[in-house]
Amino acid sequence: MVVKLNLIAAACENMGIGKNGNLPWRLKTEMEFFTRMTSATKDKNKKNVVIMGRRTWDSIPKKFKPLNNRINCVLSKSDLDFSTYNDVYGFKSLEECIKRLESDEFHGKWETVWVIGGSNIYKDSMESEHFFRLYLTKIFKTYDCDTFFPNMPGNVKKVSDPDVPEEVQKEDDVEFVYHIYQNPNFET
Ligand SMILES: NC(=O)c1ccc[n+]([C@@H]2O[C@H](COP(=O)([O-])OP(=O)(O)OC[C@H]3O[C@@H](n4cnc5c(N)ncnc54)[C@H](OP(=O)(O)O)[C@@H]3O)[C@@H](O)[C@H]2O)c1
Repeated sequence: MVVKLNLIAAACENMGIGKNGNLPWRLKTEMEFFTRMTSATKDKNKKNVVIMGRRTWDSIPKKFKPLNNRINCVLSKSDLDFSTYNDVYGFKSLEECIKRLESDEFHGKWETVWVIGGSNIYKDSMESEHFFRLYLTKIFKTYDCDTFFPNMPGNVKKVSDPDVPEEVQKEDDVEFVYHIYQNPNFET
């Protein structure tokens, strides 16, 4: 099956996504949205894939590692040992990861491929011919950040998804909205 990359990210007003190896905010409903979107499959015999950079992998607390019910793919230039985990694979590049997911080894095993960050992995994904959609939560507040979402391609078009609420969300005093952008080279 051909891989279509679905990016999912949350960014604040200055497009910040991280601080000191963690999220700059704590938004429970946004985290639940991330879990639902990246985990849900129509075919119960399949799992979704989450592709992440090594620092994002490091940022996941031990008790939540690997992200459950999902095939975890971690990108690193180093040879990392994931043999103590089930469903975790290391790759040296995004292209290598995509090739393996399209190979017989993974045939029929996955449904949707999600790219979950960080910066460079999002950038590589949006530059790839496999780039399909960006699910971007825009938070209407500025946080102190040291990691930022890269520039989006100028030609993406806004689309909707029946699984994603369109109205402004609110948690405590923080408002945010879910946007979806699609690569115009794809019809659906
Ligand atoms: N708000 C959000 O939606 C969101 C999402 C994800 C992460 N975050 C935050 O962002 C921060 C982490 O992101 P980050 O950008 O610093 O790091 P990252 O992308 O998670 O990880 C960077 C590492 O990934 C590997 N890597 C990157 N590009 C690669 C490539 N093309 N091929 C092979 N390996 C590659 C390298 O690992 P090696 O050094 O091992 O070679 C690199 O050091 C944290 O603060 C995290 O909480 C936020």
